[in-house]
Parts: sequence; structure tokens; C-alpha cells
Amino acid sequence: MTTTQDDQTASDFSYKLSHFDLFSEADSLVKWEIFDWAREQAPVARTDGNGGFWVLTRYQDVRRVMEDWQTFSSTESPLVPTGLPSLAPIDDDPPFQNELRKLLNPLFSRSALAPFEQPMHDTARELIDGWIDNGRVEILNGYAGPYIGKMLTKVIFNDLSDEELAAAQSLALDVAEHPSAEVYAALFAMCTDYLERAKARGVTGDGLISRLINGRINGEPIGIEKQIGCLGIFVMGGLDTTRAAIGNITYRLTQNPGLEDRLRDPAWVRRDMDEFLRLDSPVAAMARVATRDVELNGVLIKKGERVQARFDAANRDPEKFRDPESLVFDEARSGHAAFGMGVHRCVGSNMARMQLEIGFEELLKRVKNIRLAPTAEIAWAPGQSNALHAVDIEFDRID
Ligand code: HEM
Repeated sequence: MTTTQDDQTASDFSYKLSHFDLFSEADSLVKWEIFDWAREQAPVARTDGNGGFWVLTRYQDVRRVMEDWQTFSSTESPLVPTGLPSLAPIDDDPPFQNELRKLLNPLFSRSALAPFEQPMHDTARELIDGWIDNGRVEILNGYAGPYIGKMLTKVIFNDLSDEELAAAQSLALDVAEHPSAEVYAALFAMCTDYLERAKARGVTGDGLISRLINGRINGEPIGIEKQIGCLGIFVMGGLDTTRAAIGNITYRLTQNPGLEDRLRDPAWVRRDMDEFLRLDSPVAAMARVATRDVELNGVLIKKGERVQARFDAANRDPEKFRDPESLVFDEARSGHAAFGMGVHRCVGSNMARMQLEIGFEELLKRVKNIRLAPTAEIAWAPGQSNALHAVDIEFDRID
């Protein structure tokens, strides 16, 4: 029997998938090819990477898992164990998760966030002032990171110093790209310290900190571990995701010069933003653990085994989205998985959308002809986020 090139390719993909490691640089570089192959040939595939997972790449499987929290629990499921208290609400199941969401959701409605609109514009403008004369910038470090970080901490913490803010940002990036027990410990230490200081000086007004400290769930105060975990997940969930989205969208602008003008039309927010988030889903994957033996797409997943639901791969499933590797704007494309699905659907989606809207409004008012710098190297970073390592751009000034 002769081995054809197709057999060889299939065995390469099968091998890579069975050892797929979320935090491997090499695997990240070929992940789209691996997931395309997996979606067709092994949609529920076993990997020994990251402690062992079933990797799900089809939209319908990801949806089913996300919508059945009784069978696929969020407790004890992280992609990498933090060795630290759970991150509430992301590591909890209902009813506690639901109750905590009821407490948190009102803080992130569009109207609750309205007071932060002007500071977002101001922050974006100040950052652009810092590099506009250079005609170039690395968008993630020069714009997206500090813009998102400054605003997130304004919304969540109110009063971090610039130094503390920089430390929080760098921690969030480390957690996303190079998680380790030390990185998680540092993040939790920062949150613990902040909560202790807030309690000591007394919290006033309505916000995340006061709701965590003074809120009640079924008449009981929220325990300190949950308070710390919740702050931790807001730092992680709020910083790296939206930062990644700005980098990903900017990269797409460099690949198609016509897109810039499309985004200058405020209608892009309702019309096109979701399509960018679908194509390059900032959160690559989340995990769940099976609470019972369950069959998924013909594969038996045993009680206690973990699944890695790939939002990024689900969002490029041709069964769900026509021409999934392209931006397709002028047709209805509902139901993408970028903000998750089911009970854990992102609590910060309004804030993320607002930050993207204002971030690009300010950017595209001041610069045009955004293009990759000749030295730019475009590569996906490993980790739980679907982020580029760097997006070095050049541009022309408008004013
Ligand atoms: C483009 C930006 C963002 C994306 C793509 C995104 C994506 C997601 C996804 C996929 C989930 C579901 C996780 C799961 O099912 O286990 C989630 C949950 C969450 N997100 Fe976001 N997120 C973004 C921005 C934000 C922001 C700005 C914040 C904070 C203000 C935030 C805070 C959270 C929190 C706390 C959860 C946990 C919700 C729960 O478990 O009930 N996210 N996000």
C-alpha cells in the first residue's frame, strides 16, 4: 500500500490535534489549519495538551455545550488550573452564577456606562496625540492596551495609580499568554490588596467594588474568595479581550484599504462590528467539565472529562457561516459565538462594543491610509485569547 500526500497530511493534522497545546507558539501558528481539518474529520477530538481535553470545533457542538450547563459545568473546568480560588461568576454554575450576574449586569448596561463615554474619547485622543507625529505605531502597546486598560480600571477600580494600572495590564497579558501559578498569584494578590484598601477606607457610590463588598446573594454576603476571584476575572476578561479585538480589526483594515471608510460611517457599529468579532474571535476557547457520561457527535465523553469549546473554530464553521474565512458584511450573520453562549454570555459586551466604537472613531478621525509597517510581523499569539503578537502600522495624518 502506498502512502499518498493526503494520507500524510491527515496523519500530521491528527497528530498535531492529539497534542494540541493552547500555549504552544508552534501550534498557534497552524491552529486555523488544524481546526479546519478537525471540524471535518474529528470534530470531537482528544488532545493530551493542557492536561487532557476534548477539543470541539463545530458550531453546533460548541453551542450545545454552552447551552447545557447542567451537563457541562463551569466549575473545576479552567483551561489551565490556577491553583487559586475560583473566578466568580465564570467558574460557577447557576444558581450562584445567575444570582451574581443579576447583581453585576446592571453595572454594564449601555445607560450605566454612559458616564464613561467622554473619558473614553479623551483617553483615546491623548494616546493618539502621543504618537501621531511619528507616522507609525504598534497598535496593541501604543493604543489598544493603554486605552482599554485605563478605561477598564476607571470603570472597575476608580482610583488605581498609573503604576498600578500598568502592573494590572501586564498581569492580564501574562495570564492570557503565559499563565503560571506565579502570574495568577500576583493577580490575586493585587485584587486582595485593592479590596482590603477599599474596605478600610469605606466604599461609597454604586459600582463593582461596592456591589461585591455590600451585595447579598440569598441574604448572604459574598465571600472574600468570590470577591477576589470576581475582580480577577474582570481584569482578565476586560483587558486582553477588547485589546485583542482592536489589534485584530486594525490588522483587517491594513489588508483591505476600502474598510477604513466603511468604519468612518458610524453605522459600522451595528452593521459590521459583529462580523469582525466573528472572524477573529478575541476569546479563542473556554472549557467545561462533563457532570455525567454524555455522547457528543458520536463520541462518548465520560463524567469528569473536560471539553475545550473553540469559539474561534465555531465561528469559522462553513455549516453555519458562508465563506467563513472572509469578512462578509452585507448579509445577516446572526449567532456568532465571540461573546459566548448560554448563561455565561459575556457581561462586558456592551462595554467592549462601546470601547471599540469610540476607539476607532477617534483613530479614524486622525489617521488615514493605515498600512502594515514594512517591518511588521503578523503572528497569532498562543493562549486563551485570539490575539496577534503585534500590529505595527504606518499611516498618514488627516489633520
Ligand atoms: C471583545 C471583547 C470581549 C469578548 C470577545 C469577550 C468574550 C467573552 C466570552 C466568550 C465569555 C464567556 C465565557 C464562558 O462561557 O465561560 C465572556 C464572559 C465574561 N466576560 Fe467577556 N468578553 C469581552 C469583553 C469583556 C469586558 C470588557 C469585560 C468586563 C467589563 C468582560 C467580562 C466578562 C466576565 C466577567 C465574564 C464571565 C461571565 C459569566 O461567567 O457569567 N468581558 N466574555
